[in-house]
Amino acid sequence: MKVIVTKNYDELSKVAANEMANIIRNNPKAILGLATGGSPVGMYKELIKMNQLGEIDFSKVTTVNLDEYVGLSGDHPQSYRYFMNNTLFNHINIDKNNTYVPNGLAENIEEECKNYDAKIAELGGTDVQLLGIGNNGHIAFNEPDTSLVSGTHLTGLTDDTIKANARFFDTIDEVPKTALTMGLGGIMKSKKIIVIASGESKAEAVKGMVSGKISTNMPASMLQMHRDVVVIVDEDAAKLL
Ligand code: GLP
Repeated sequence: MKVIVTKNYDELSKVAANEMANIIRNNPKAILGLATGGSPVGMYKELIKMNQLGEIDFSKVTTVNLDEYVGLSGDHPQSYRYFMNNTLFNHINIDKNNTYVPNGLAENIEEECKNYDAKIAELGGTDVQLLGIGNNGHIAFNEPDTSLVSGTHLTGLTDDTIKANARFFDTIDEVPKTALTMGLGGIMKSKKIIVIASGESKAEAVKGMVSGKISTNMPASMLQMHRDVVVIVDEDAAKLL
């Protein structure tokens, strides 16, 4: 794992955006694995700026997102499809037909998961997968557990994660209890992985990911087995390294 420590969140966002921009410049048809949450918002703002200045072109880019809440439609303000449209896709020259997010309203969840993995395979896999990390070490919605599922699957959210994500909803009761998520196997298949984390609340998880023992109880620690991971963290998140 290559670890880059930045002074603060702004610098982290710029460094991460530059990594992404280089991938797109090297391969205009890049397949980008994208993430939601608070962490990538600054990076997305930088990418929008670069796109508006004509420095990067998304017209041939395809994106594949990690996860989606079950039961929220794409126009629900807290759905991850809405987040992606609102935070990035509506502001760049991407063809929305080339943006994939699991469908949280799918009638047949098993089928949706199978089709999602088949779509990623058909695209030839992701060139880069962007990840945030949960306070408990989860990535996407792969929560700490005694075993982890490889492919895209339905999962329950832990109380920790429901509490952490409640900040985006009016009340904690509105946070969905289940989600569709890419599995660890799918994430590990990406050619490159970029993890971003900011703030002291992530310091324990960052330490577990970078130097803890590899365990399904700390899902991010599994990334130690991938050969091209760049971890970009600010000084607060790097505190325990
Ligand atoms: C959520 C998402 C993850 C994200 C994590 C951290 O539960 N499913 O993909 O990485 O939380 O979020 P944040 O960046 O807001 O701290």
